[in-house]
This record gives sequence, C-alpha cells and structure tokens, in this order.
Amino acid sequence: MSRGALTIPLTLDRKGAETLQRQIYGQIRDGILSGRLAPGFCLPSSRELADAFGLSRNTVVLAYEWLSNEGYLDLRRRSGTFVTDSLPERSLSVAPSSHDVASPAGPVSAKRHRLIFRGQRLQMVERGSGPPDIKFWYGSANWRHFPLGTWRRLLIENLSRMSANLSEYGPPGGNMELRKAIAEHIGAARGVRARPEQVIVTAGAQEGMDLICRLLVAAGTPVVVENPCYAGCVKILQGFGADLIPVNVDNLGLDTDALDKTSAAVAYVTPSHQFPTGATLPLERRLRLLQWAERVGAYIIEDDYDSDFRYDGPPIAALAGLDRGGCVIYVGTFSKSIGAGLRTGFIVVPDDLVEPITAAKSLSNYGHPWLEQIVLADFLRSGAFNLHLRRIRQQYRHARDVLVSALNREFGNQRLSGHEAGMHMMWTLPDDFPDAHTLSQRASQTGVGIYPLAQAGAVSFSWPQEHRAIVLGYSLLTPEQIETGVKRLAAAVATPADKPAANLSRRPRAAGA
Ligand SMILES: Cc1ncc(COP(=O)(O)O)c(C=O)c1O
Repeated sequence: MSRGALTIPLTLDRKGAETLQRQIYGQIRDGILSGRLAPGFCLPSSRELADAFGLSRNTVVLAYEWLSNEGYLDLRRRSGTFVTDSLPERSLSVAPSSHDVASPAGPVSAKRHRLIFRGQRLQMVERGSGPPDIKFWYGSANWRHFPLGTWRRLLIENLSRMSANLSEYGPPGGNMELRKAIAEHIGAARGVRARPEQVIVTAGAQEGMDLICRLLVAAGTPVVVENPCYAGCVKILQGFGADLIPVNVDNLGLDTDALDKTSAAVAYVTPSHQFPTGATLPLERRLRLLQWAERVGAYIIEDDYDSDFRYDGPPIAALAGLDRGGCVIYVGTFSKSIGAGLRTGFIVVPDDLVEPITAAKSLSNYGHPWLEQIVLADFLRSGAFNLHLRRIRQQYRHARDVLVSALNREFGNQRLSGHEAGMHMMWTLPDDFPDAHTLSQRASQTGVGIYPLAQAGAVSFSWPQEHRAIVLGYSLLTPEQIETGVKRLAAAVATPADKPAANLSRRPRAAGA
C-alpha cells in the first residue's frame, strides 16, 4: 500500500487546449522546481490521483512517466512514487537543451522555464494619450506641421514607378539611395563623416540600439549609462543582462571626472541634448569621453535623438564627428523630425562593425520596408526635408519661448535646463514647491499633464534631483495652450495639500486644446 499523500492540489482545465497529462506534468514539475514538493516527497499513487480527479489512470501514469524520464520523479522504488533527491541539471538551466528542441510537442510549462529573455516592455504611447487636455508631453513631432502633400506625391510617384521592388528583398542594411542621402545629411548637419555602407537603416533608434547591444552586450557586460538616463536603452541593456554602471549627470551633462574612475565595454550617452536633463556636453568633456573610450577600449553609443533642433548658440558637432579612434556608434532617428509612426532611424557604425551589424540586421528582419525608405530618400534629396526642418524649428522655438516666459512670469525665475535645443526642457522645482510626483497629480486634476522622470521615459539611479525634476515638452502645444497650462499649474502649486484642485479644469479650454 502506498504511504504517500492521498492527493495533491492540481487545477485541471478539462476544456483547455493542453491535454490533461500535460497539465499534470506541468503542475507537478512547477511544484518540484518551486520547492513546494520537496525532494523525497512521496506522491499519491497513479490510481489515487486518478480517482481523486476523476481521471483515467493512464493519464496520470503518462504524466508520471514524463516526469520520471526527465529525472523529477523516482518510480523505481516499490513503496511509492517519490520526488527525486537531486534535481536534474537541465531543470535548473534556462538554456534550451537538445532534448527540448527535439520535443516540440513537449509540455507548455516546460517551455516557459526555457525563456531566457528577461526584458520589460517599453511604454511609449499610453501616457501621451487620453486626458488631461493640455499635455506637456515630450518629444512628439507635431503632425500639423508635416508637409503631407509632398509626402503623398512622393509616395504615389515611387509606387507607380518602382512597384516591382515590393516583391523583392532589398539590401539588409537599407536602400542605398537612402543611406547616401542620410550620409550627406549628417555630414552637413552633424559633422559626421560616413560612407553610405556605414549607415544602417533601422526601425527607429530603438531597433538600432537593440542591434548594437546584440553585438556588444551579454550577461555581465559592464556598460556605463548616464544617471538619469533614457529608459528605452536601459531596458534593452537590462534585457541582455548588462551590468549597468550609472555615472551622474550635472548641469553640463555626463560627469567625465567620475567616468575616468570607471572602466566598461560600452557607454550609452546623449551628449547633444542629454535625456532627460537637456544638458549639452561641452567640447572639453566630449574629448575626455573619447579619450576614456580609447583608453579602456570601450564603444560609445551616441544617441543623437533630437539634434535637428537647436535654437540658441552655434550647432555643436556630434561626438561621432570628433571620433578618430573608431569608438563611436552614432544613432539617429526621424521620429522627432518627421514622426515616430514612420519608425525609421539609422545607425552609423565604425568600419569594423559594418559586417557584423549588417549580419545582425539581416537575421533580424532583412531590412526596412522599401517604400518608406525610397520616399524618405526623395524627401531628403529634394530639399523638402530641410525646408520642413526650417519650418518646424521656428514653430518649436516659438513654443519654447512662450513656455519659458510663462513659467518665469508665473513663478519667478525658474531653474530650467535643456531649452536651448530639442523638444523638451527639464524644470527643477523650487524647494518650497510640492515634489514632482505630487505636483503632477495636482496638475492632472486641473487638466494639465506634466511628467516626473519616471513617467517621462527616464530612469534614475538615485539621482539627487530625481524627485524635483519635471520633463516639459512643448512641440504639440499651441502658444495659447501653453499659457493656459502654465496658469493652471500655478493654481496647482498654490493648492493646499489637502484640497483637490479638480475644479480648475472647468476653465474654458484654450483654442485648439
Ligand atoms: C533619448 C531618446 N532616444 C531615442 C528615442 C527615439 O526612439 P525611436 O527612434 O525608436 O522612436 C527617443 C524617443 O523618445 C528618446 O527619447
């Protein structure tokens, strides 16, 4: 007679897609791996378990045999069915084994334990949609200013002229016409000299950074990141298991003194308009960053995401333009200048990475959609892109000016950073204001969206100003909306802590809000 438990808790779904034996297998295996069913534990006999759940005995026997074959159960002892004393090596490893590959019909829960990706989803949309009605959301291109007529014409022309391209694969690194046009553009606008072959067209900066990390980052690879930093890249790095080394950012950007004390294989930086603080790294620090990279043998990922917009001071060449050692991988995007929905960006890699990155891109998706690439190439070559940039720069500059003066007027001179460039600025709240989170909640009750670092796509590693920093974007707002928004903010700041500020949202909406 069995001396084991009469039954064990199982949740069986008789109408589910998984067979009952697979469900039993999976749940017992989970129980063993989680320690709930300890080594040496005596399970109910197959007959007892079948009776307890109204199953045929064969169903349980089969599940037990699977578990025994994989080393989880010991069926050989006459006195019962025991959890094995030493767990099989394979169950502790997350890497798929040849056995797993050879058994595609294997239990689903077994597959779950083989998952090696540990990444977290990147949220770029949710916080920008829905109420409140005036959102100081950062980094979105304003579609109202986009030359849709020109784009439509280029689309139709290309589609009718070259539709055979729709049925062909293109070069994985991207359409050569577009790569040439991008190389010319960044040469003139950013001082980055590149042959078209060094330009790889990607689905936004995000895919570019993911491909780069695929080449350079594995579990435990030391990677310097700015503190605070753009979450999009941090999440990629975490997904690859990188060992992050946060280096603080001050009002001039990355602290290169602190950097000099570290060593890493890769550094991810946003020197032109640090995300989120907006600091521009001065030349002296840029040179020190490059020297550091050469000294420790690191690659630098330069994310030049919103450099199409500089309002004050002379344009500053990209880090890649200063690089003589082949250390810098330049990441660019059309998400800010045209729109994130285009999902088109590019990377420029040093010569030694051209082949590996092209291979990675070919394996990932064999290149970017042809039509978008050729239309964009024509948009750049025809001068329409530069014309568009000139127009939106004026619009954004005006919106920026309105926001800066409204803040200073309502609150007295404020600590703003990063307003010389890009599409957002950072507002460091005075000490007598509520903290960033509280103020954003109060603002939201007045129909205004303002975003503390964590809600603005930034990651902070206990950065000193973390709780006082607000990211303010202005590219989507009209001057009237900005004025109204800042007035409501003033009311939100003045609201006593125990009083909701909700009634303020009943103010009349600004034109176009
Ligand atoms: C710092 C930074 N890098 C890159 C991007 C752009 O990513 P993508 O080109 O994939 O849209 C963003 C978008 O907000 C950003 O804030």
